Amino acid sequence: MSSQIDHLLNENREFPPSPEFAAHAVAKPEIYERAAADPEAFWAEQSRELLTWAKPFTEVLDWSNPPFAKWFADGELNLAYNCLDRHVEAGNGDRVAFHFEGEPGDTRTVTYSDLTDEVKRLANVLEGLGIGKGDRVALYLPMIPEAVAAMLAVVRIGAIHSVVFGGFSADSLRARIDDAGAKLVITADGGWRKGKVSPLKPAVDQALADRDGKGVQATVENVLVVRRGENDVDWIEGRDVWYHDVVPQASAEHEAQAFPAESPAFILYTSGTTGNPKGILHTSGGYLTQAAFTHRNVFDLHPESDVYWCTADIGWITGHSYAVYGPLANGATQVLYEGTPEFPKPGRWWDVIEKYGVTIFYTAPTAIRGFMKQGREIPQARDLSSLRVLGSVGEPINPEAWMWYRDVVGAGTAPIVDTWWQTETGAIMISPLPGITAAKPGSAQVPLPGISATVVDEQGTPVDNDNGGLLVVTKPWPSMLRGIWGDPERFVDTYWKMFADKGFYFAGDGARLDEDGDVWLLGRVDDVMNVSGHRLSTAEIESSLVAHEATAEAAVVGASDETTGQAVVAFVILKESFLRENSAAGLADELRKWVGTQIGPIARPRDVYVVSELPKTRSGKIMRRLLRDVAEGREVGDTQTLADTAVMSVISAQVK
Ligand code: WTA
Repeated sequence: MSSQIDHLLNENREFPPSPEFAAHAVAKPEIYERAAADPEAFWAEQSRELLTWAKPFTEVLDWSNPPFAKWFADGELNLAYNCLDRHVEAGNGDRVAFHFEGEPGDTRTVTYSDLTDEVKRLANVLEGLGIGKGDRVALYLPMIPEAVAAMLAVVRIGAIHSVVFGGFSADSLRARIDDAGAKLVITADGGWRKGKVSPLKPAVDQALADRDGKGVQATVENVLVVRRGENDVDWIEGRDVWYHDVVPQASAEHEAQAFPAESPAFILYTSGTTGNPKGILHTSGGYLTQAAFTHRNVFDLHPESDVYWCTADIGWITGHSYAVYGPLANGATQVLYEGTPEFPKPGRWWDVIEKYGVTIFYTAPTAIRGFMKQGREIPQARDLSSLRVLGSVGEPINPEAWMWYRDVVGAGTAPIVDTWWQTETGAIMISPLPGITAAKPGSAQVPLPGISATVVDEQGTPVDNDNGGLLVVTKPWPSMLRGIWGDPERFVDTYWKMFADKGFYFAGDGARLDEDGDVWLLGRVDDVMNVSGHRLSTAEIESSLVAHEATAEAAVVGASDETTGQAVVAFVILKESFLRENSAAGLADELRKWVGTQIGPIARPRDVYVVSELPKTRSGKIMRRLLRDVAEGREVGDTQTLADTAVMSVISAQVK
């Protein structure tokens, strides 16, 4: 970490916006002062301007019971109406909502009218299946238009979606279905990935089977299945319903009922510092306000002419806010791509950009670093001249990757917006605004208008410029999480306890202010790892490892990795009873695979080291810092607090 910080401190390039860009930019510099003068009035104004309220709100923020905020509480609206019907009513029904590109090369053009019709039909189907206000619906789908339609149909009828990333295992899916008490699962037979059909329905079947042994009552009544992969699937009559058997036949008449602004819209599970994922709860009016505002201003969206592409899967918050709610509320035209960047060969993403004339592109640093490795010849063989704004999200972007992104992908002119935010914040919080901010490679720069965030020391005192500390948000914001599903105490403990006397939200990230007061993110300060922009919990992977019959103890760390930002590295101690009967040969690999099937391929450790001891303090706490030194091939740091100071040399020898 320290070499990384030194490196960042030497970064002093700056790229001011071009006058031409600034002249046409959505956001004008005065926006910062206007927002700072009265943040609540600013958000109220944005909300009225960007959204259509069925019943206008008169209250803005209610912070009388912190940390439980209410925004626009007496107003009523329908999220799907805001994303769909109103654009059709305004005469934009023929505008393309999605250029869909399937991985095998099939395409579909979905207009706002098409999508509105589909969502209305699906809303009728969901109601026919007995789903109503407040019911939870789990979605386990590939990146296809039906996935977007499903999210919108659920919120249209006042139900709550919980999208589970299609790369998660049956066990992970089961845990999420159970925690939310889902009544319906919407899935597909399978989706395309790397030239093959990756099955989804079998994982749903597995997640819903075998429950008695676990002592859990299944809450799921039906499974609605989209045909996509055309792979064979098992079928339970009476429970399973084909999407194509019911949706096209359903009526396309469906009036969107307005719901109070604080009605729950969705739950999205994310990893925390314990083994159990947290169901982050978002509500309606405040969420959509900030998603729409940030999408329009941060990406400089001109909906009539731009073609926007966010590569995130809808299983993550970026897919929710910037491939569904923000862009659709703004009437944007988007690209939706099902597969991987490398299929059938490297350069597929650049082909997609060229084909659809993408103007705004939003992706993760891991992807950019992967492209850097493959070489600039690949993007340079395509015409990427349509691109005019580039975004980055999910992890710190190193200055080299930033420069490459700008020079090779953005022709040395496209502004880059490095956007910091979280599942919990719901929408972008810290980012440059193109056309205003002079961009610095590697810095997320300044809180957006209407957002108050800063860097503090452990006592909560703001640090001076040129100093580091912990990133906090100091005032409530419209798209903030409203809680953790079913666990208000954990919500308070995780985010608000650390600086309870100040009322600050603790983000879990370390950050530094440079001499101008710009923010540089330095990664997580807790036991959460960030692998390819995906959040993973050390505790969750450790508990998966010890669930294996061979493992006695496990410690997991995130070690820096050139491509994925961080990589999962596990240290395990084997059970003596196991070793008496079995050999340890091949076990490291088996454990890697084990985690992959238990949690999902994204959690599979890069390395598993079998060791005889783990470094612990006298109170028994594992010192991950020392294991990280080993994993990153560094000299091991201060071992004085260890119960047994010799243990690190034993481990280092075993790892070599
Ligand atoms: C990290 C993704 C540096 C950070 C939207 C945060 C970033 C976590 C950036 C949230 C960025 C996100 N620069 N770090 N621009 N954006 N992060 O919930 O550690 O999947 O806490 O939300 O990603 O990850 P999440």
